[in-house]
Amino acid sequence: MDARGGIGGSLKGLDLRAEIDRLRKERNAVILGHYYQKPEIQDLSDFVGDSLELSRKAAETDADVIAFCGVRFMAETAKILSPQKIVVLPDMDAGCSLEDSCPPAQFKAFREAHPDHIALSYINCSAEVKALSDIIVTSSSAEKILAQIPKEQKIIFGPDKHLGGYLKRKLGRDMLLWPGVCIVHESFSETELLKLKAQYPDAPVAAHPECPPYIVDHADYVGSTSGILDFSKTMPGDTLIVATEPHIIHQMQKAVPDKNFIGAPGADGNCNCNICPYMALNTMEKLYLALRDLEPRIEMEEGLRLQAKKSLDRMLEMASGTVGQGDIGARQ
Ligand code: 13P
Ligand code: SF4
Repeated sequence: MDARGGIGGSLKGLDLRAEIDRLRKERNAVILGHYYQKPEIQDLSDFVGDSLELSRKAAETDADVIAFCGVRFMAETAKILSPQKIVVLPDMDAGCSLEDSCPPAQFKAFREAHPDHIALSYINCSAEVKALSDIIVTSSSAEKILAQIPKEQKIIFGPDKHLGGYLKRKLGRDMLLWPGVCIVHESFSETELLKLKAQYPDAPVAAHPECPPYIVDHADYVGSTSGILDFSKTMPGDTLIVATEPHIIHQMQKAVPDKNFIGAPGADGNCNCNICPYMALNTMEKLYLALRDLEPRIEMEEGLRLQAKKSLDRMLEMASGTVGQGDIGARQ
């Protein structure tokens, strides 16, 4: 980092918020932020949303630069949908355990072993896996998309076995699951959650479907980050137990300041293990440098981009309900 200005060195004394605001105008940049970003980054983002909403924003923006404050698969999605834009990610090491769990070569072999299945893939995967998939889903669009696929169609679902398992149970669909997990949602403890529920017997629990079944089974609401945020605004009572990455609580406190939000605990009852280590890599300093230097930049080979775009376009169409059942079939 020092080679580009030194986070601890020449950035000292800079008003980072003012500099980011100046650069975003100069560069005609839009800053897209996920709910799992630090509060100061959420607060300066032009738009904060879940994976589907951020993909839609990336596809429709007329900015010249997209500064993506999220993780790499999200910034890659923005580049796939908006190739003419410069897309920067403040820290290129901001990956995802779900993406890491699904190496493209192994996924390709899995697909080839099941030629009569279509591949429905969670957006938390690499561009290569998107290119090997028929349809992408997000947590907020998965149910709607799955409902449009004929019952008799065989399906591979990857890389999140917990989201896949939740969809199987809820919709009664038999799908072959890739065995990936999110390390963040995997770290919630059922024992500690039950202790918390005993302490707050009237508080509902909202959980992300990336959580294991032993957490989801205790939830009053299961949905994407945006869904959980909406639930916090309309839920009964004044206390909510939140089983997802705790930075989303910042938006809840802004939207409904008189309510009480408690993050679901990990195994030691009070750990930081449910903070996403990848999302946390983005900082104000790195965002400033990304806007100043237009680096690190997402670049992608055009053939890969076009192949990955097919499954993402299908997601965008099906999530807005513009594809008929007859249109769903194997990849071309
Ligand atoms: P959503 O924001 O789409 O619910 O996804 C959460 C997530 O896993 C981000 O990594
Ligand atoms: Fe990946 Fe989990 Fe972090 Fe989301 S919270 S980016 S799924 S590791």
